[in-house]
Amino acid sequence: MTSYLRLTDVSKIYGTVTALSKIDLTAEKGEFVTFLGPSGSGKTTTLMIVAGFEKATTGDVMIDGRSISAMAPHERNIGIVFQNYGLFPHKTARENVYFPLQMRGQAKAQGLRKAAEMLDLVGLKDLGDRYPKEMSGGQQQRVALARALVFEPSLLLLDEPLGALDKNLREQMQIEIKRIQRALGVTTVFVTHDQSEAMSMSDRIVVFDKGRIEQAATPLDIYHRPQTKFVAGFVGESNLVEATVTDAAAGKADAAELGQCDYKPDAALKNGQAVTLLIRPEHIKLSRQPLEGRKNVRIKVDTIVNYGDNALLMGHTEKRTLRCRVLGADIVIIKEGDECHLSWLPDAVVPIAG
Ligand SMILES: Nc1ncnc2c1ncn2[C@@H]1O[C@H](COP(=O)(O)OP(=O)(O)OP(=O)(O)O)[C@@H](O)[C@H]1O
Ligand SMILES: [Mg+2]
Repeated sequence: MTSYLRLTDVSKIYGTVTALSKIDLTAEKGEFVTFLGPSGSGKTTTLMIVAGFEKATTGDVMIDGRSISAMAPHERNIGIVFQNYGLFPHKTARENVYFPLQMRGQAKAQGLRKAAEMLDLVGLKDLGDRYPKEMSGGQQQRVALARALVFEPSLLLLDEPLGALDKNLREQMQIEIKRIQRALGVTTVFVTHDQSEAMSMSDRIVVFDKGRIEQAATPLDIYHRPQTKFVAGFVGESNLVEATVTDAAAGKADAAELGQCDYKPDAALKNGQAVTLLIRPEHIKLSRQPLEGRKNVRIKVDTIVNYGDNALLMGHTEKRTLRCRVLGADIVIIKEGDECHLSWLPDAVVPIAG
């Protein structure tokens, strides 16, 4: 099947800096794909190459089976929203949204009507006559979104569009953007370095690190079946334990720091292979005494951080620290400085090759 958006072998080299090395990625029509990765990992560079503001050093970008690499940005029919809105200060919200239609030669009366409809869709029905400085950050971002969508782009690109907003507004806008994206069915690439934003909004997450793609998969696969140690550590909280497979058929590994650990058998692993075992803190149970049928580790509690509905507990064995998350009520039995047991089931242990 041909994907709607396809990047093949895309590299970007700035002098001595390799910003992107041989990226392959796809997005299906109507899909919401998020680029997630640390600062400098190549997310914006990739977006700029798709938009046409940067030229790839190697490789090709295709939309709907046609190469767009030789096209100028304005020929690509792509809507873009940046963190700093980029609105025209001397135009009203409605005129800002009309602008792309004006550029495309659409008649004013019809164009302004379309702009008003778009403002309605983003929840700004009554603010069409306001100037950007008369609007809040969240409202300005909605105008920018309306402006990027008004000309029915073949692709919507959003680069950290919520970065300047406070937490509550950010969460509200996450839901809004998803709603609008679904309503229009527009294929969307969203850039963030906020993993919870990526988890909650995306059909698929592409994890970047150092100009390479570490993994591209659904949010749940990224969380529960990370393919690299980097992904396991970057997305969600984790305990990562180095180990060597001792019985691949039965799912047994030996970890220098924790002794024998059972994991869910994985046919791809071989005896003697080095693995990293991922154990999510919420899959670990806390108890005074060891619990039967589970891997138990005795720890001394260093820190308890209470969040109300849950608590994070950090403790150490002789050889390493471990963290676990427990529901609020369970934590009252334990104090900092106490000794207790952490335990988990083999199914909670995800082996990552390499
Ligand atoms: N014009 C440029 N000249 C030289 N190097 C550049 C240029 N633009 C980007 N880079 C480098 O390319 C790499 C990738 O940058 P990019 O902006 O794509 O990262 P990012 O993942 O978007 O990061 P952030 O989360 O901080 O926005 C970085 O090392 C950056 O310094
Ligand atoms: Mg960036």
